[in-house]
Amino acid sequence: MTKSWPPYELVEDNLADRARHKLDKLERLYHIGQNNIWDGRQVLNDLIAKHGPPRLPPAQKQSALKILSVLLWGELAAWAISADLAERIDDVEAKMAATSQAHDEARHFYVLRDYLRALGEPVPRLGGLGRRLLISILETPSLVEKLIGMQLLTESNALAIFRGLADSRIEPVLAELLPYYEKDEARHVGLGVMYLPRLLSQLSTTGVASVVAFQLRSIGILMTAGLTMHQHFRNLGIDPRKMAQHTVRLQDEVTHDMLGEAGAGEKPRDAVRGLLNPAKGFGPRILDFLHPPTGLANAPAWHRGVLAAWTRGAFWADRALA
Ligand SMILES: [Fe+2]
Ligand SMILES: [Fe+2]
Repeated sequence: MTKSWPPYELVEDNLADRARHKLDKLERLYHIGQNNIWDGRQVLNDLIAKHGPPRLPPAQKQSALKILSVLLWGELAAWAISADLAERIDDVEAKMAATSQAHDEARHFYVLRDYLRALGEPVPRLGGLGRRLLISILETPSLVEKLIGMQLLTESNALAIFRGLADSRIEPVLAELLPYYEKDEARHVGLGVMYLPRLLSQLSTTGVASVVAFQLRSIGILMTAGLTMHQHFRNLGIDPRKMAQHTVRLQDEVTHDMLGEAGAGEKPRDAVRGLLNPAKGFGPRILDFLHPPTGLANAPAWHRGVLAAWTRGAFWADRALA
């Protein structure tokens, strides 16, 4: 007995237990999802009964429809992507979380579709840039790119749009409907936060390079697509700079949470290997360039010129790729 004393294992992290604990947390996303399921038909019907049939103010109608179109097709893509993740992820617990997400995204899609039907307005077509981005996430064979593209990039942008649109209180049914979406989407980010670190920490050098290239391309498309939407956001009283800051803050939080998910014996940095954080490096400077802190009118002439040319290119590409 004295030979095995002191019992070091009492203070040592049990590697198997820690790994188990992480998987349990992933499985919990499924159970929380099940507890928080809302009946989309009931919620929408109750809101319409409370506020009357939804009608958009004429001056803001086109802008609101353009943004709702992005959300509608984004939800459909999220549905297909999460179903694909559910099939391709090996760990049962993460598979359960992705399956729960697919169920949520199906509800998000049909409720938004039914809301648009209740509005009685034709839904504008999706811009070509948004279309390209969603297709690239749908089609990438890489599980890591799919998770980064959907759970981190698209979900954080969607969360910022949901918040901006709900705060704009353009229409009461929509304003009360969107918080239901937000709660679900926040949980979806959790799958990326908890599952990506184990995939990122195993990436080879070439794997890191291709993940970085994928993110640069996706962020480039997101920023360019954003330029075609700024006028619509402003028209609804949503400040595009504030929205971009909100997105960056969310992605920064995600990076911090992921650092805490590093496996036993791993360096925390490995958990976010290859992941770009727009709150760091050139990120804040790019944000200030796209959204000058003191307003575009006060920016130097060269700055306004470059941004105007980029915006013209964005509108051209958005049409050409549609
Ligand atoms: Fe969704
Ligand atoms: Fe989602």
